[in-house]
Amino acid sequence: MRILVTGSSGQIGTNLALRLRHDGHQVFGVDKRLNTWTDDFPYLLQDLAGHYAPFRGGINGVEYPEVDLVVHLAAHAKVHQLVRQPHRALENAVMTFNVLEYARLRHLPIVFSSSREVYGDVHRFEEYPEQAADFAFAESTYSASKIAGEAFIYSYARCYGLPYLVFRFSNVFGRFDNDLNRMVRVIPLFIHSMLRDEPITIYGGRDKTLDFTYVDDCIEGIVRGIEALAEQRVVNQTINLAYGQGNTLVHCAERIASELGATPKMTLAPSLLGEVTHYVADLSKARDLLGYDPQVPLDEGIARAVAWFREYRAAHPYEDVPITADHEGSLRDAGAVWKSAATT
Ligand SMILES: NC(=O)c1ccc[n+]([C@@H]2O[C@H](COP(=O)([O-])OP(=O)(O)OC[C@H]3O[C@@H](n4cnc5c(N)ncnc54)[C@H](O)[C@@H]3O)[C@@H](O)[C@H]2O)c1
Repeated sequence: MRILVTGSSGQIGTNLALRLRHDGHQVFGVDKRLNTWTDDFPYLLQDLAGHYAPFRGGINGVEYPEVDLVVHLAAHAKVHQLVRQPHRALENAVMTFNVLEYARLRHLPIVFSSSREVYGDVHRFEEYPEQAADFAFAESTYSASKIAGEAFIYSYARCYGLPYLVFRFSNVFGRFDNDLNRMVRVIPLFIHSMLRDEPITIYGGRDKTLDFTYVDDCIEGIVRGIEALAEQRVVNQTINLAYGQGNTLVHCAERIASELGATPKMTLAPSLLGEVTHYVADLSKARDLLGYDPQVPLDEGIARAVAWFREYRAAHPYEDVPITADHEGSLRDAGAVWKSAATT
């Protein structure tokens, strides 16, 4: 197949594009940034968040190559950043609109990357089946942007017959997630900090429990979805993709420390506004519809993530510096807005 991947310079986009190429597909990426990890697939540098005039061949009239399917991953993907900078949430919705218009005009099936954030931090369930999403409730502006994206997708399916799959991801970690000066993600940040013997902060406290997904499991699920959507075996479904097990962030930090032979200097702090503090995915739909069977539990994933990080760092020693400024998901003012104790 010929597959368009938006957000192809990001973590999931890079891993997915390389896997699709490995599987024999042609990949065409679109991103507003250069890919800092690989040159192994072609992509276009384009800002997808503009308000563009109607277009046909490609977004904003740029002629894209012919493709058979679109995977839309481009987004501002950092929850708390969108709480501090809500205009970026609107940009997420605009990007999705542009990509949907392109898919509508070219009659292309689309895979959309949503998030467990659509469920909010409601602590109502042990696990989260897909129908638990309550769109009257939006935990954060990031959640709102993903809910808006999903709503657009569902409306395009109803109004224009656009075939889709929506995947709700959860804390994907592993290869190609270490560009910490662009976007701080918790697992590579902890690895980076502990390697430097720097302290770490656990926002959300000792009980904060998340469903961490090793990147290869996530990619396997997406690839299964792409194939099933293209063959029209599975169409117009919304599916959780995760590992299906809760782990505390404290446990995660301890595993990283033990993998590194380090002693973590951990501080517990209240949750940041808009962030989820408890989530475990219900994977029944992914298992039933796609035969999805995640293989990498957190402990094994951390061993692999640490090994990859170390190897990358050895080849890029100049990255061994403090993370001070993060223009997209700032560390410096991360504590600016606190969630009140009453709502956690
Ligand atoms: N990684 C996770 O744990 C996770 C969890 C839930 C949902 N998601 C969603 O999955 C998708 C991929 O996530 P990721 O972790 O790879 O994020 P990422 O930030 O690594 O990649 C997103 C890419 O989108 C690009 N982008 C942003 N704005 C753009 C614009 N205006 N025009 C063109 N490109 C633009 C960025 O440059 C980036 O390369 C996102 O939609 C994210 O919200 C990810």
